[in-house]
Amino acid sequence: MKIAVFASGRGSNFDAIMRAIRSGELRGVELALVLSDRPSAPVVSKAEAWGVRCLALEPKRFTNKAHYEAATLQHLQAEQVEIIVLAGYMRIIGETLLSAFANRIINIHPSLLPAFPGKDGIGDALRYGVKVTGVTIHFVDEGIDSGPIIAQQAVPVLEGDTRETLLERVQHVEHQLYPKVLQWFADGRVLREGRQVSVHQATRHID
Ligand code: GRF
Repeated sequence: MKIAVFASGRGSNFDAIMRAIRSGELRGVELALVLSDRPSAPVVSKAEAWGVRCLALEPKRFTNKAHYEAATLQHLQAEQVEIIVLAGYMRIIGETLLSAFANRIINIHPSLLPAFPGKDGIGDALRYGVKVTGVTIHFVDEGIDSGPIIAQQAVPVLEGDTRETLLERVQHVEHQLYPKVLQWFADGRVLREGRQVSVHQATRHID
């Protein structure tokens, strides 16, 4: 299964996916391309360090989102990418990519959705004072963090937690969960019917 990772920032989830692929823990997945909308983002140098092709395409160089996404789409098609994996990509996916990749774009969000969607899932959870937050991996639709949920894992909020300490524990979970979910996709185990997403038993191979 060929994937592309879209990222705007640090790229620690990209790193975790690459580690899982290269260590053989994540099987049947090839990371064909990283797309960043910010050429100066740390994820760009991380991709170079891994020897993964990285496309730094700045949206401001295009007249509108449709043109930006059409250019992106050409690269994705040339690389025969099957799944787009958003990992800290700070833009809303538009109609061009959503229709070309229907049911094939996934995102990771640092809260238990539908609580705390948007840019600051960690800060919003701390400010609200919840005792449990977590990580959600979901299909991407036209809304903000609103698509059908594929996997969730809880993370406790501890007394005295700061943004940094909570982020660290949330990201630790993200780095385990994203490769695990990608393995489900690579094994063809994920089925979506409306908002319901089910994960089927792995097929047993008898040699
Ligand atoms: C992650 O916490 C993810 O949940 C959110 O953006 C962050 C990206 O982190 N969507 P990184 O760039 O992978 O380190």
